[in-house]
Amino acid sequence: MSTLELQDIQGIIVRGYSNLEAACFVLLSIQNAIATRNWLGSLADRLQNGHDRPSETCLNLAFTYDGLKALGLDQTTLETFSTEFREGMTQPYKSRVLGDHGDNAPVLWDWGGGVHSPPIHILLMVYATDEVTLTSFYDGLAESFGSGGVALIRKLDTFMLKDEQGGFREHFGFRDAIGQPIVEGLSKAGAPDNTVKAGEFILGYPNEYGLFTESPTVSAERDRQNLLPAGQKGAEAHDLGRNGSYVVFRQLGQKVQDFWQFLDGITQQADGTSNPEARVQLASKLVGRWPSGTPLVEAPDRDRSDVKDKNAFAYYHADPHGFKCPMGAHIRRSNPRDSLDPQPGTQTSIAINKTHRLLRRGRTYGTPVADSLNPQDMLQAEASGERGLHFICIGANIARQFEFVQQTWINNPKFNGLYSETDPLVGDRAPGGVGVAADFTEQAQPVRKRVTGLPNFVVVRGGAYFFLPSICACRYLASLS
Ligand code: HEM
Repeated sequence: MSTLELQDIQGIIVRGYSNLEAACFVLLSIQNAIATRNWLGSLADRLQNGHDRPSETCLNLAFTYDGLKALGLDQTTLETFSTEFREGMTQPYKSRVLGDHGDNAPVLWDWGGGVHSPPIHILLMVYATDEVTLTSFYDGLAESFGSGGVALIRKLDTFMLKDEQGGFREHFGFRDAIGQPIVEGLSKAGAPDNTVKAGEFILGYPNEYGLFTESPTVSAERDRQNLLPAGQKGAEAHDLGRNGSYVVFRQLGQKVQDFWQFLDGITQQADGTSNPEARVQLASKLVGRWPSGTPLVEAPDRDRSDVKDKNAFAYYHADPHGFKCPMGAHIRRSNPRDSLDPQPGTQTSIAINKTHRLLRRGRTYGTPVADSLNPQDMLQAEASGERGLHFICIGANIARQFEFVQQTWINNPKFNGLYSETDPLVGDRAPGGVGVAADFTEQAQPVRKRVTGLPNFVVVRGGAYFFLPSICACRYLASLS
């Protein structure tokens, strides 16, 4: 097992900075490459590394393909980046892969989509203990934008939702950030089935195939100062990717009241009154966990607080037919664990699954519909404004990880033996898409139940793919001439 060079790895790969509850994501465009390179040189020393745990504020930074180009990176080097990163998130065929059409079409996005959107070049990920500290930290950074040759495109604020036990919630009211892979070599040890080779998330280390994930390189002559380590293929190519990774960022708006109204309607009693218990049970079936976080596969009929943090479970032997956790539930689709063919229930299946894991680092945004996050309160609230999830995931291979999960599991109508449904929370159900048949099946005995006409509860508002360089690679990019 290789030792991870944590001092050179940006901290967001290592931790989600949950102690820094305030955060914003800042989208910038480069106006003057020389000024931006100088600015980047000074920022490189301030970037949070993965070795130290920040206590008050911290900063991480990533680039789009257009951003690296605007910074002055040469074409030969640019072409060594992965195809999906170079192509970005909004090509027509990519929209088909990701299910971004109808209300989710890039032309409708608030940022990052359509030809008329200003180009996004740089993403700053800015964190602080509280909003006051964040504002002063951000203001300090923003003062340098002008001299740094960058223009602000958008500042995306966040709003962390927590429950009474300190658990993180998302806007529908469910615990989030439980199901995460353990990255091998980081301090936290975990269950072997959930421990994934570092090379799945950090370039320059062996991945689950025992290989090095394709990493961008620079010819030795373009790195005369030897700022970068030698590449895997020999000394003539220096490794621009080592200790870096790729970031998928999608701003996902959530239609919280539509979600609960729909479930309320479906679960009403014969006399037309609401059935809060049935409503929350059905919602939990869509997710695969109860609002507390308790996995349905462990507690199918009622919530059990003693297993609310549990992540060590599998599906094939415990629930082969989906009677406990429906086959199409959000967490069963996005991480099928041991259920993959051709040998479900075996280590082979788990090994395949490990090549499609996502390291999630998103944050919620917008105020909650009701502070209590109780469905009844959410139904009765007079809510306005926009809310959702800044979905962020990190992976060394965007195509094999995020795009695969989105296309082959989340948006696949035939996933897991099903045939006319997509992920009930985030799946593509826009007219003309794969998910026009907007069903959700609850496997049950003697007969299954089927919910039909599921609307879209989540709408894409923006998105882009980013390269998250190592700290050395930032210094290299700053040194370009
Ligand atoms: C607004 C959009 C979304 C909401 C509200 C949402 C909500 C949730 C919730 C409540 C959980 C269960 C808690 C946990 O296991 O951590 C979860 C898990 C997860 N979600 Fe999402 N999610 C959203 C979008 C997505 C997208 C777009 C993807 C992937 C493309 C995704 C991938 C995952 C994964 C991988 C897990 C962990 C599953 C596991 O390991 O068991 N989510 N999500």
